[in-house]
Amino acid sequence: MATRDSKINNDSENIMLEKLIQQTELTHFWSQHIEPSPYSSLQNPALSEELMQRAVNAVTQWPGYTPTDIHALTPVAKACGVRAVFYKDESARFGLGSFKALGGAFAILDWAASTLTEQLGKPVSIESVRSGEYKEQMKNLTVATATDGNHGRSVAWGAQLAGCPCEIFIHRDVSVGREQAMAEFGANVTRIDGDYDESVRVCATQSANNDWQIISDTSWPGYNAIPRAVMAGYTVMVEEMASQMDTSPTHVIVQAGVGGLAAGVMSAWWKTLGENAPKFIVVESDRAACIYQSLDANAVTAVRIAEETVMAGLSCGEVSELAWPVLQQGVTAAVCIADDLVPLAMQCFANAQVTDKAIEAGECAVPGVIALAGIMKNEKLRQQCGLDETSVVQIFGCEGATDRAVYDELLAQPT
Ligand SMILES: Cc1ncc(COP(=O)(O)O)c(C=O)c1O
Repeated sequence: MATRDSKINNDSENIMLEKLIQQTELTHFWSQHIEPSPYSSLQNPALSEELMQRAVNAVTQWPGYTPTDIHALTPVAKACGVRAVFYKDESARFGLGSFKALGGAFAILDWAASTLTEQLGKPVSIESVRSGEYKEQMKNLTVATATDGNHGRSVAWGAQLAGCPCEIFIHRDVSVGREQAMAEFGANVTRIDGDYDESVRVCATQSANNDWQIISDTSWPGYNAIPRAVMAGYTVMVEEMASQMDTSPTHVIVQAGVGGLAAGVMSAWWKTLGENAPKFIVVESDRAACIYQSLDANAVTAVRIAEETVMAGLSCGEVSELAWPVLQQGVTAAVCIADDLVPLAMQCFANAQVTDKAIEAGECAVPGVIALAGIMKNEKLRQQCGLDETSVVQIFGCEGATDRAVYDELLAQPT
């Protein structure tokens, strides 16, 4: 610990960052040795190279498309003792505030194009659906989802992009702000008098009765085409990063809920860099650590969420069936972090501590920095991860202030 602490940046301007690094400890961690291998050697890959390319081709044609920023977090790299840290900032993605905009919307358009291809007996492209060529037919294809946040906004926006009706089911505790955000995209939002699981059940029943297509970001036995497309949409971020970074990452730290984001970005980096792919590290809230538990048990393991994490997008108790084989074969380390570091980490971003300008980083955007600091303070794990002063680390700023009230409250919290 002493050697690591001595690397902490002593610049008094970065006092909050110093404090964060000093306070950070991982609550749990697990690691394994991964032999470098080509993407083609992966068993049960969730994503084909063709699907990833299709997603990139489609998304980059949407109106308003522009690659999101990547920031070099030089003070973090210096303080942690690595060569560089690159932060992919998704707070401005299509004006929706998170990377989720890529997944749900691509899945809807891809599904609509293949459904119309079948119905009309002629090839229908994603772009022709998006540009409104089939707007009459699209009025008869309805999509639905149960959600408590970012995914619902992405589905509502995607349905608007595709021109199809959208039914969203939210539970009794979803904030009015989030409800309005989905309704603004033209979705019909139904609030049910029950919890999240009840909203999933109501959505499933109504969808079966009305022939609506469920758009979920997680997969289960018999349901994987849509979540596969959702994951493919996320790979656009890697395509962008590969050209934004002047050097390839040696390590990628990615936060996880059901693991779709992690498996998606892993697949894309693995496809892009093959045997030179970075080492992948997954970070979860210790209140919802289904991937850590599954890797540790070497079998899919569901966890019961006793207390909600403040990182709402990571609050998932079951790993996605599609993501699991990718995670199992590709993750070098899985680490868990405590909620109480999140406000301070967000404040570091907001107060220009992690780079020379302020960055709007929501609750789910900060686990990468926390995980890196925690690993660097744990000598054994640091070595197992092969992290040192030559490492180039890539992390994900998954969201900006997707719920302004929560964001403001966390920024104001004494730390
Ligand atoms: C902002 C944010 N970050 C990360 C995640 C985690 O993604 P996944 O559930 O695919 O692991 C989510 C999921 O909703 C999210 O909303």
